[in-house]
Amino acid sequence: MISRNDPCWCGSGQKWKKCHYPQIPVLDALAKKYLMHYGILLKNLEQIEKIRRACEVTSAILDELCSAAKAGVTTQELDDLSRELHAKAKATPAPLGYGTPPYPKTICTSLNEVICHGIPNQRPLQEGDIMNIDASAIVDGYFGDSSRMVIIGETSEEKRRVVDVSLECLLRAIEVCKPGGRVCDIGKAIEDYATSQRCSVVNQFVGHGVGVAFHEAPEVPHHYNNLQIPFAPGMIFTIEPMINAGVREAIIDPHDKWTARTKDGKPTAQWEHTILITESGHEVLTRF
Ligand code: MF3
Ligand code: CO
Repeated sequence: MISRNDPCWCGSGQKWKKCHYPQIPVLDALAKKYLMHYGILLKNLEQIEKIRRACEVTSAILDELCSAAKAGVTTQELDDLSRELHAKAKATPAPLGYGTPPYPKTICTSLNEVICHGIPNQRPLQEGDIMNIDASAIVDGYFGDSSRMVIIGETSEEKRRVVDVSLECLLRAIEVCKPGGRVCDIGKAIEDYATSQRCSVVNQFVGHGVGVAFHEAPEVPHHYNNLQIPFAPGMIFTIEPMINAGVREAIIDPHDKWTARTKDGKPTAQWEHTILITESGHEVLTRF
């Protein structure tokens, strides 16, 4: 008889217990409650291990893409590099083909007044540009999600401010992530700080549960809200504040149906991490 440590019957080369060993669908009481009340899947240790790996691959891909982002390089060239990097890591880029209309590229490259979902194209990066690169790798069926800003050369005080403020917003939001807190604490941490720096918080896009799918419950608003969902160990979600120098409103491009720009054309910035709630606090699964 096959035992747990034998190679799996499917020929994967992995141990049976790591591969097709039957998963007994017994959820503990808390996990049941979260699924029933909120539609939130609390992750078990095996799932956390896989999601941690997807997050590591996502971070490594972002390392390379950020290093390659220099004046003269087109965002399409970054997308080409992203395809290669995903293939090398045996990962699938989650954005490609996602949504309606199907997202056409493997990453988002959002420049200057583009809030999010900028589509790579033939425009070369220029001195003074700020750009968000957003990558989400699927590894072995599990998802990681992260984005970072890059500054091309010297930029304006206003652009530098949104880059710095959005990072500080993310870091402050991560600090409130621990059992005892609630999802609405994230929006409070972010909007309190952003407004203190004369910036606004986009409320048309939110962070999200992630891990077994690209976008899971809960929604994680970055603005003031009243979502009283208590943080529980095993919750995995993104925080990805989009912070504007001017007004908060986003306008979605009527032609490509993706590119979201600030209504007033002023600069905007975003950083994103995937966060795990632990017994004692949190673990940032993606990294800088
Ligand atoms: N981090 C972004 C999100 O969570 C990535 C969007 S990819 C796209 O929505 F395919 F939706 F554009
Ligand atoms: Co995301």
